[in-house]
Amino acid sequence: MKIAMIGSGYVGLVSGSCFADFGHSVTCVDLDQGKIDALNRGEMPIYEPGLDQLVAGNVAAGRLFFTTDLASAVAGAQVVFIAVGTPSRRGDGHADLSYIHAAARDIARAVDGFTVVVTKSTVPVGTGDEVERIIRETNHEADVAVVSNPEFLREGAAIADFKRPDRVVVGIEDERARQVMSEVYRPLNLNQAPVMFTERRTSELIKYAANAFLAVKVTFINEIADLCEKVGANVQEVSRGVGLDKRIGPKFLHAGPGYGGSCFPKDTVALVKTAQDYDSPIRLVETTIAVNDQRKRAMARKVITACGGDVRGKTIGLLGLTFKPNTDDMREAPSISIVQALIDAGAAVRAYDPEGMAAARAVLDEKVTYVASAYDVADDAAAIVIVTEWDAFRALDLARLKERMASPILVDLRNVYQPYEVLRHGFSYSSVGRVA
Ligand code: UGA
Repeated sequence: MKIAMIGSGYVGLVSGSCFADFGHSVTCVDLDQGKIDALNRGEMPIYEPGLDQLVAGNVAAGRLFFTTDLASAVAGAQVVFIAVGTPSRRGDGHADLSYIHAAARDIARAVDGFTVVVTKSTVPVGTGDEVERIIRETNHEADVAVVSNPEFLREGAAIADFKRPDRVVVGIEDERARQVMSEVYRPLNLNQAPVMFTERRTSELIKYAANAFLAVKVTFINEIADLCEKVGANVQEVSRGVGLDKRIGPKFLHAGPGYGGSCFPKDTVALVKTAQDYDSPIRLVETTIAVNDQRKRAMARKVITACGGDVRGKTIGLLGLTFKPNTDDMREAPSISIVQALIDAGAAVRAYDPEGMAAARAVLDEKVTYVASAYDVADDAAAIVIVTEWDAFRALDLARLKERMASPILVDLRNVYQPYEVLRHGFSYSSVGRVA
């Protein structure tokens, strides 16, 4: 099957490479000539474990191509995926669909023969109808079926998520398109991945509902963690006890500094806006957004309290800056609010992140002194804060760390350590939802 992937960002690049790995012939398109040139040289625009090898293997096998020439990629394809960005629109938080609409127009001009146009980007309910209208308006002859196929990849685990998904959701109104989409996902049959066919609008909403539910789940356990600290309970044990109930499940019950990333913050706001527009507000999600925003700043207060209530003139060392491990993504990372609040309180910040330093520099600039290793963060630090749970921070030599610090204070915002491990090295230790 010949596939064109419009947009070679995170979703487009990972999905395109995985489809190629399944044997389809895939052409990834992007407007950004620099990005396409880099991909053709084998350089990845993002850090995602395993992606470079996946791309290299499929390029070498002649199944994966990169181009800026949308028209030729679309003309030769039976299936065209739209995987362009849908950022938050400035001012109102609605998803900005201008890239989607532009892609629909370009596709309309280029299609040749029956073509299935699939929206993979996260788009509000009704976008499929709009894409269909734009295509028909731009090209009256176009023989297309417009399908919704939201993506559920997690950054850092995207290839495994694509190849072994919990489910594939396909929103479809056209029988011919259904057969084509079955063919596209046939390679997953071996993994027994359920492919759920449903209506287009339902499919669009499933994506938002899934991300919003997970954001609510994380925020719920974060608030329980706050209560644990007050009443002397242990949130990790509460999560375990709650998560063993099969109706609840153990995942997304890790308390931490609040959710970030390119998806939860943007998608929860967009869902709330859509719901308000339809006079059907989702207050649970509205509250989740507010609680999560406050939480990121509250984490800086936790650090300040651990330092005796004052960090003026002190150096604070941060371990991890990205919104989660195994990515270089800094979007909406809790570290951004934490750094700002610490600086506002008069502290100097040193930081190390295994993969996110370049992206962090672009966001945090000279607010932070960037160092080359976890141990370099410790120099003269009044406290060290674990912000992101990279594997490299899970077995630190605490004695070595302590030697270089001005005072032995560890604030563990991801509960990477058990209190006794840290306390026996003479640290003062504070974590999330546990009393040391
Ligand atoms: C999320 C969804 O998990 C994917 O299914 C979805 O495809 C993706 O958004 C998207 O819409 O594209 P992602 O943003 O990569 O994926 O990250 P997650 O692993 O879901 O984590 C989101 C945030 O929640 C992170 O800040 C993470 O640290 C936080 N989190 C997650 C917790 O604080 N505790 C948990 O137990 C789980």
